[in-house]
Amino acid sequence: MDHFNYRNDELYCEDIPAAALAERFGTPLYVYSKATLLHHYRQIASAFAPVDPTICFSIKSLGNLHICRLLASEGCGFDVTSGGELFRALESGGDPNKIIYAGVGKTDAEIEFALNTGIAAFNIESEEELENIDRVAGRLGKSAVGAVRINPDVDPRTHAKTTTGKKESKFGVDIERAERVFDHYNGRLKHLRIGGVHIHIGSPVLELEPYISAVTKMTDLIERLMKRGHKIEWFDLGGGFGVNYRAPDQARPITEHARVLLPLLMNKPYRIALEPGRYIAGNAGIALSRVLYRKQGGEKKFVIADIGMNDLIRPTLYEGYHYIWPTHIPTNRREDYAPAGSEKVDVVGPVCESGDYQAKDRVLPPVARGDLLAIYTAGAYGFAMSSNYNHRPRAAEVMVDGSEAKLIRRRETFEDLVRAEREV
Ligand code: LLP
Repeated sequence: MDHFNYRNDELYCEDIPAAALAERFGTPLYVYSKATLLHHYRQIASAFAPVDPTICFSIKSLGNLHICRLLASEGCGFDVTSGGELFRALESGGDPNKIIYAGVGKTDAEIEFALNTGIAAFNIESEEELENIDRVAGRLGKSAVGAVRINPDVDPRTHAKTTTGKKESKFGVDIERAERVFDHYNGRLKHLRIGGVHIHIGSPVLELEPYISAVTKMTDLIERLMKRGHKIEWFDLGGGFGVNYRAPDQARPITEHARVLLPLLMNKPYRIALEPGRYIAGNAGIALSRVLYRKQGGEKKFVIADIGMNDLIRPTLYEGYHYIWPTHIPTNRREDYAPAGSEKVDVVGPVCESGDYQAKDRVLPPVARGDLLAIYTAGAYGFAMSSNYNHRPRAAEVMVDGSEAKLIRRRETFEDLVRAEREV
């Protein structure tokens, strides 16, 4: 469910026409719906309410301070994966007691920053990292708390580049080694208490089975660990819940995930944490882009729009599919919807690379120079993965709340692009 709907034959974000937003703030433009963000967050909280989960928004998916502040004010915590993300979570008013820090390559400086901040826990990915966090905490005279990230060897059936919980991925400790790692380190480290276990199998995950399989393996593991005398206080399931890229009902609502997972998680002597990013942010954002030109190359028709791979890299990086449609033509937002006169085009951008496309061989109604395109499901890993490649200023971001639109990140300027070099 989202709040991007057609009214009077034009696309609205909540109560504002997309065209009015493009006119006012320019393009390319990221537009987020506050109601959709809140709806998704609350939907997760209520679906998993029987286990009273700690929900940590994965800030890497959408880090805008205004959006993170909104989630923090709802009681949401944060999953961070770098010192920069931790800084952002704190700037957003994030409660350190609800911040967890994952990632295979934490530097000493980042670990110190996190310890000084008093975050809830590190999600620790290797034996050497366990030893290092203990060492850094000792040096600072602090006590660290951590969970061991386990690689459960489950195939999430998603893109290879976003598969993280299969054997031979760089993430976590192999599940077969988990007991040995706990036996060896638990209690031996003077400044690090290992209190939990963590997984994140990959994303986006559209099926239920990979989660069932991973969670079952983990609850069995936790039982074995507890039998060996290890106290497990929490189990962090990670994120990865899929969203609707191709049609409004493509992904399973979180209630379905909860229905199959809750029986595996209820009445356990440990707490549950979740780290959703995409499920909260994905369908809560669209990117608006203006058509600049049309052209033909051989048999191929190109629609050249002003959004580049620097603005939204998912299509070229992961063969990611984003539904695209002109804002002035109503649609049911289904992949196979093609009104009469539709034609097959590549939607490409201004960046000097053949990989700069948003869609290939996509059937769209005829569009002309000046038309506005909406690229859906761009809220997660959209702006967050944007760059200045080709020296393009990054897009503006706007949050819509009913009939009000608030600029939450101004468009970058050419001056912004050279500032850090001028200053040296
Ligand atoms: N927890 C951990 C430890 C993660 O590494 C991630 C995502 C998440 C939670 C949140 O996953 P989510 O609920 O957002 O799916 N750039 C890629 C996705 C990379 C995900 C990286 N880790 C994309 O655009 O599809």
